[in-house]
Amino acid sequence: MKTIIVGITGASGAVLGERLVRFLLEGGHEVHAILSPSGVSVFREELGIGLGSSHAEIRKNFLKHYKNPKRLFVAAADDFAARISSGSAPVDAMVIAPCSMSTVGAIAHGVTLNLIHRVASVSIKEKRTLILVPRESPLSPIHLKNLLALSEIGVHIVPATTAFYHKPKTALEIVDFTVGRVLDLLKVEHRLFKRWREGEGE
Ligand SMILES: Cc1cc2nc3c(=O)[nH]c(=O)nc-3n(C[C@H](O)[C@H](O)[C@H](O)COP(=O)(O)O)c2cc1C
Repeated sequence: MKTIIVGITGASGAVLGERLVRFLLEGGHEVHAILSPSGVSVFREELGIGLGSSHAEIRKNFLKHYKNPKRLFVAAADDFAARISSGSAPVDAMVIAPCSMSTVGAIAHGVTLNLIHRVASVSIKEKRTLILVPRESPLSPIHLKNLLALSEIGVHIVPATTAFYHKPKTALEIVDFTVGRVLDLLKVEHRLFKRWREGEGE
């Protein structure tokens, strides 16, 4: 069982965070979710799921959405004193999915305006696995420089893009390709997509 922190920011692709949390819970892992205020807005905009505005509402509705599993915790985005904000918290990895360019910029420059930035910064200083799923198009030179700076210090950059060799037929199959690549990096088993030449023998 792994303990994974999942940050959900206000980039398009709320479904990526929603499915990642779902698959981690289904795999028996412990998930600590943090939603930025923009992440909450895009969750409502794209998934039609209104989580509310206060932390108590967001926590209650997010837990309810997943049918109140024992291993799901929700931290407030402005709670810098949360247990997971400390490097001493026993955490295996952090994923930010979807990750906005604003959050990429903050992390790349060591700016901590919310708990997502803080935990990402802690992950970097503790040399823990940190995986970002950025979503923007086209990417500006600023975005690319920030992503390169993070990649160069070992942060995994998994863009929200799909391969086509598994012949996706639905939008969810496209989403699950990216989620599956994140699970690969977390070393969490899954059957979310057919791998290149899988089942063809040697
Ligand atoms: C519907 C919607 C879609 C958005 N899509 C993106 C996106 O794909 N990438 C991005 O970087 N920002 C996107 N934004 C803008 C971010 O939400 C905005 O920059 C916000 O400040 C990000 O803050 P956060 O990183 O703390 O969540 C979108 C905003 C809205 C309302």
